[in-house]
Amino acid sequence: MNITVIGAGQVGGALALRLADAGHQVVLAESKEGSASLTKTLARSSRLSAAPIEDAVDGAELVILATPYGANASVIGPLAERLVGKVIVDCTNPVGPGLSHGLKSERSGSEVLQALVPGASVVKSFTIYGFENLEDPEFPAYNVKPTMMFCGDDLTAKAKVAQLITDCGFEPLDVGGLVQALHLEHMTLLWVRMVRLNGHSPRLTWAALRR
Ligand SMILES: NC(=O)c1ccc[n+]([C@@H]2O[C@H](COP(=O)([O-])OP(=O)(O)OC[C@H]3O[C@@H](n4cnc5c(N)ncnc54)[C@H](OP(=O)(O)O)[C@@H]3O)[C@@H](O)[C@H]2O)c1
Repeated sequence: MNITVIGAGQVGGALALRLADAGHQVVLAESKEGSASLTKTLARSSRLSAAPIEDAVDGAELVILATPYGANASVIGPLAERLVGKVIVDCTNPVGPGLSHGLKSERSGSEVLQALVPGASVVKSFTIYGFENLEDPEFPAYNVKPTMMFCGDDLTAKAKVAQLITDCGFEPLDVGGLVQALHLEHMTLLWVRMVRLNGHSPRLTWAALRR
């Protein structure tokens, strides 16, 4: 799949590397003048390339957004026309003071993003754990893969994202429509508070057990 990553930091960089290793054509969007993270990520794999953000978006079937939440409107707003018909994987989390929900739990960041780009299909994913687990999703002591939850309203877009989740080494778990994004964002806060404030290992992930 032709994939563009906007924001090649801890999250975007890890996903870019894993997806390129899995055989996807991954382009890092030059979203910021002189981006240190883009230069660093590019140097980590000869499979990656970089392009001006407009060209990178035009050439992509699917765009991974991994910028700070506060940058979403300024980064994505001007690209709305170019993003029509494309899938946007929203990896961003609105985080407020004291690790609270950045939009006061009134609406999810993903729904705000979807309203900015009505012609695209937003799918929220890769948000419920720290980037350490995106870089290395292996848990050899267990016979299950860590679960990666995702949500969105477009079934075709979700099928594409589910494949990428599998390619990144996780078990995809569809948790419903984009209305579920608020709950995933709270789940992120739960994980972050457990790990960053309460001493749990950053290599803590969830698994789905069924019977
Ligand atoms: N860190 C985690 O474990 C984690 C896990 C799940 C989800 N998330 C979410 O994923 C998103 C990215 O987090 P991260 O930890 O990967 O952050 P990060 O390492 O700081 O990377 C952010 C990326 O966005 C770029 N960027 C920053 N401001 C920008 C702007 N105004 N316009 C365009 N590009 C901009 C940065 O470029 P420069 O390098 O040039 O600054 C960098 O490439 C956040 O929304 C975060 O909440 C984080």
